[in-house]
Amino acid sequence: MEKIIKKIQELKKKRNAVILAHNYQIPEVQDVADFLGDSLGLSRRAAETQADVIVFCGVHFMAETAAILSPEKTVLIPDREAGCPMADMIGREKLLELKRENPGALVVSYVNTTAEVKSETDVCCTSANAVEIVNALKDRDIIFVPDKYLGSFAAAKTGKKMILFNGYCPVHMKILPQDIKKAKEKHPRAAVIVHPECRTDVVKLADAVVSTSGMVRFVKETDAEEFIIGTETGIVYRLQKENPDKKIYPASEIAVCENMKKITLEKVLWSLEELKYEVRVEEKIRKKALKSIEKMIEIG
Ligand code: 13P
Ligand code: SF4
Repeated sequence: MEKIIKKIQELKKKRNAVILAHNYQIPEVQDVADFLGDSLGLSRRAAETQADVIVFCGVHFMAETAAILSPEKTVLIPDREAGCPMADMIGREKLLELKRENPGALVVSYVNTTAEVKSETDVCCTSANAVEIVNALKDRDIIFVPDKYLGSFAAAKTGKKMILFNGYCPVHMKILPQDIKKAKEKHPRAAVIVHPECRTDVVKLADAVVSTSGMVRFVKETDAEEFIIGTETGIVYRLQKENPDKKIYPASEIAVCENMKKITLEKVLWSLEELKYEVRVEEKIRKKALKSIEKMIEIG
């Protein structure tokens, strides 16, 4: 492993590359990253970086968002099969149908969508800023795609009327209210933090509902010594590493996103060697999609 890491560091310099990784990546990939974050943090970094090459260790929509923001850079995903099943639940045609059925409504799309869907969107959001984005849109009905749970969470927080699409994250769906209750019985003093992609009956049992980087901040800044984490299990490694004196318990061991785990150190090295797989978005779609991402960055 040492050898691979050394080669990755050398090639990174040679290519003027930066490695961006999502909080759900496997530990070795988290450790080799220049920046580790949630979808919002990663897209901000992708927009700001001076590097020529971005190796994106995450799922396809994340790399695509980087490619939309930085068309002059080479954006690579080390495994092109690393997709997001939720993002694939809605296509452009379905969104156009929803727009026809709800004339005058604004479209808010979770960043977990394809570039084509973003190109038909008024404003994007992530789990970190969904409430803020929905709040900022005045006096118009809102079509929210694809995550019905994040959409319901934002609707409940803002009191807005929202037309929700029936999408969901199959990984977060695995976290059940009884998992939280059992964990709470075992660790009664632990604070419960869950991701807004969780089911509504799970969200109701939480002390905090935040994005993955929101979890990182919450654990660091909260006085509690124990935490029950309701999201994909990969983040537990980072939380434990950054808070060695605190106890971190995953709410469910089976909440594993196989797509996130497709990226390995070997594939990161290969990606830098071969400059593969490049993620590109057709210019006409990119320009339209960019507007919805820029609008998001402008609001929150
Ligand atoms: P975050 O933006 O909170 O990291 O979430 C991304 C994601 O895909 C969660 O499943
Ligand atoms: Fe998509 Fe869910 Fe995996 Fe996040 S955890 S990338 S929403 S399938």
